[in-house]
Amino acid sequence: SPALMTDGLGRRISYLRISVTDRCDLRCRYCMAEKMQFLPKSQVLTLEEIALLADLFIARGIRRIRLTGGEPLVRRDIGDLVRRIGRRLGDGLDELTLTTNGTRLAEHATMLADAGVRRINVSLDTRDPGRFAHVTRGGRLDQVLVGLAAAKDAGLSIKINMVALTGVNDDEILPMLRWCDDQGFDLTLIETMPLGETGEDRTNHYLPLNTIAKEIDGHHPMTSIDYRTGGPARYYQVDGLGVKLGLITPLTRNFCADCNRIRMTCEGKIFMCLGHEDHVDFKAALRDGGLAAVEPLIDRALRLKPAAHDFRIGSGLQPATSRHMSVTGG
Ligand code: GTP
Ligand code: 5AD
Ligand code: SF4
Repeated sequence: SPALMTDGLGRRISYLRISVTDRCDLRCRYCMAEKMQFLPKSQVLTLEEIALLADLFIARGIRRIRLTGGEPLVRRDIGDLVRRIGRRLGDGLDELTLTTNGTRLAEHATMLADAGVRRINVSLDTRDPGRFAHVTRGGRLDQVLVGLAAAKDAGLSIKINMVALTGVNDDEILPMLRWCDDQGFDLTLIETMPLGETGEDRTNHYLPLNTIAKEIDGHHPMTSIDYRTGGPARYYQVDGLGVKLGLITPLTRNFCADCNRIRMTCEGKIFMCLGHEDHVDFKAALRDGGLAAVEPLIDRALRLKPAAHDFRIGSGLQPATSRHMSVTGG
């Protein structure tokens, strides 16, 4: 059988993030610019091409696949892809998951559960409708809340992703933690990463999570636990609550030494690191020469994986890449 994937530093690659579209129905200020130029459809992989590449990666040792965007649930016929990849569960694939903004979960929750998805991550930075509309540049909180309820009803495990932002939601972190506990959700806090020009000042809003952890610990003493999801979060049990709290700290404490991930954009570009521009383009090879032409590119991509990302935030500093988060999907 074909060799498993290991990068030049000996890291085993077993987790693939697939961005199925660069489009989104929201415009979160830390993620996108207000006016975005999206890819024309001809440049985007078809669902069939994505499924073929997913199979190839599973053959090379990918065990977890996470679908991202943009917003994955705005891609037309997304259910066909989820069901198609879902058929590989127990047949090479251990887990199929999705990161979503939740606006269309009401429509898709049952489809996800039926296809074998067991847990999803849902972005929710604030539970205040006015703030939500501000952060997302026009989104409606109630849509997400209805979506979350539908996902819960469908039996999906839910983890809330909250990007911690000074002056935006720093006063909501404890309330969010308690609300998640009440709802039976887990919560992951995330440090904002400088990717792409968004027209927003990142320096003012950057919130290092060590300060937040101190605050939470003062109310609910935190204990590190060895729960793992395969992603970069470090998890804690918080005293008095059942919720698991995850911290994703790309700036204050990176996790690159244990990185197990690569990502594919909706154009078929393989990025080995979220914070770097290096990538290998699979689309042209696939369209010209089929999977046989793609296979040798995997090893070229593996050699490109850098030791670490190098994110810095400060006035006058440029984003680490000109590419927006919505292109690589995190
Ligand atoms: P699970 O651990 O499988 O639940 O997922 P995850 O936390 O890896 O995925 P999710 O899409 O929910 O991403 C949460 C945050 O982690 C986002 O801000 C991602 O950009 C970030 N993230 C995920 N993988 C990486 C990585 O390899 N490097 C960096 N710097 N950030 C990452
Ligand atoms: N920094 C950190 N996290 C981000 N996300 C989007 N943009 C950024 C950023 N600049 C988060 C979203 C979503 C996940 C895929 O990445 O909130 O939960
Ligand atoms: Fe859309 Fe997610 Fe980016 Fe917000 S963070 S604009 S929901 S892709």
